[in-house]
Amino acid sequence: MFGKRAGSNFADQKQSPPVASPEGSQSAPTAKIAPKDEARAPIKRAKISEPVKKKPAPAPAARSEEYYAIKTMIFNALIDTIDLGQLAQLDQNSAAEEIRDIVSEIISIKNVVMSIAEQESLLQDICHDVLGYGPLEPLLARDDIADIMVNGANNVFIEVAGKVEKTNVRFRDNSQLMNICQRIVSQVGRRVDESSPICDARLADGSRVNVIAPPLALDGPTLTIRKFKKDKLTMQDLVKFGSVSPAAARVLGVIGACRCNVLISGGTGSGKTTLLNCMTAYIDPAERVVTCEDAAELQLQQPHVVRLETRPANLEGSGKVTMTDLVRNCLRMRPERIIVGEVRGAEAFDLLQAMNTGHDGSMGTLHANSPREALSRLESMITMGGFSLPSRTIREMIAGSIDVVIQAARLRDGSRRITHISEVLGMEGDVIVTQDIIVYEIDGEDENGKIAGEHRSTGIARPAFWDRVRYYGLEKELAEALDEAEV
Ligand SMILES: Nc1ncnc2c1ncn2[C@@H]1O[C@H](COP(=O)(O)OP(=O)(O)O)[C@@H](O)[C@H]1O
Ligand SMILES: [Mg+2]
Repeated sequence: MFGKRAGSNFADQKQSPPVASPEGSQSAPTAKIAPKDEARAPIKRAKISEPVKKKPAPAPAARSEEYYAIKTMIFNALIDTIDLGQLAQLDQNSAAEEIRDIVSEIISIKNVVMSIAEQESLLQDICHDVLGYGPLEPLLARDDIADIMVNGANNVFIEVAGKVEKTNVRFRDNSQLMNICQRIVSQVGRRVDESSPICDARLADGSRVNVIAPPLALDGPTLTIRKFKKDKLTMQDLVKFGSVSPAAARVLGVIGACRCNVLISGGTGSGKTTLLNCMTAYIDPAERVVTCEDAAELQLQQPHVVRLETRPANLEGSGKVTMTDLVRNCLRMRPERIIVGEVRGAEAFDLLQAMNTGHDGSMGTLHANSPREALSRLESMITMGGFSLPSRTIREMIAGSIDVVIQAARLRDGSRRITHISEVLGMEGDVIVTQDIIVYEIDGEDENGKIAGEHRSTGIARPAFWDRVRYYGLEKELAEALDEAEV
């Protein structure tokens, strides 16, 4: 018990209801008690989110207008009572205890009629509003969610098990949502408002965040969170889920181990980064690996890894470090392999050069819908990056650098599959020739609407990178795996 609460303030509270508007009072805690970094560590937060975890209902029940009115009233009384400066000094758990004490007291003094369960959920909501990211907290606490998409205060969607669904979560209004966006981006020293309405940030747990605010977003602040998975999927998990067959996984293992240059292609959320992470498991622990990412997602298990991350411009518009800068710098770091999280632009050229100059075994992901498209996207990235090379030269460079393209896809039933393992053979005239080694063939749908299919070898017994495989002594493994894939 501390601060303004000391003494008999509550008696006064009862007669003079707080005058501050909900917006005004909401922004107060935002500014003063931005949660500390360590306070946001998952362990400490667990206490607040525990009840949500215990009963993993798909979404909290929809709440009535009355509930929100009571909550605003109690929230305002709390803000008038509590000393935010002192609250900010407490750790997350003590602060939550303190808030719970005060809110319980307010509820009894104001004679609010509520069941124990309602009271508990109100307490929790208010703790989330004051100490965390408000209505987002229960969603952030769930491990089964891949993405959270907030389209204005009243529309919150999540992706669970590959399917997008609407939740009952809502914000009081767009200004509460905006406050929370602001609170998130201020953690990484950025700002989002009308003058700079687009912002990327990261949560303390590593989740990637994008905010686009009005006037650009027409229906209110729009927030997209790609949740960070602490326990990354492994190749065994992908096999278990049927994303890849055991035989195809063995082929991928050989490709990773014998230092082929690999491009992983796929749509948004198709599992490219996850697959790249799985592929890095086959890298020899003795190799020096440098990773370049826009937001660090990869979790390599090797002992000798250097992780680099790009940086956007600061508020004054300076200090930007692009992917090209990172990849170029990489080359001066004596890497044995370079891993680029996502190839989007001019860095494609530098990556290819790296692949060509002794850093074989490099890998990257790229956004495309087929292996063939992936290669032509690579070409246009280089052309658009301002390199005035004849297109044939660029293609030769691509054909000479990339050994394998792996295609990932999210199918219409929400499942993620590796649909192609293709190799790049070389040039024929002006065209890059590719050849599928293993493809996923869809046979139909089962009674639950789940897509049924199989990973099949196309009958290629000796891929073009066979010599490389032999050099690493893995030809027996590859031959067996390809045999097994023939069904
Ligand atoms: N094979 C898979 N099976 C099930 N879930 C997957 C699979 N691959 C990826 N995911 C999940 O899908 C989400 C998006 O994956 P991610 O690799 O980040 O996609 P991308 O990099 O293509 O945008 C993540 O939550 C991840 O855990
Ligand atoms: Mg990705």
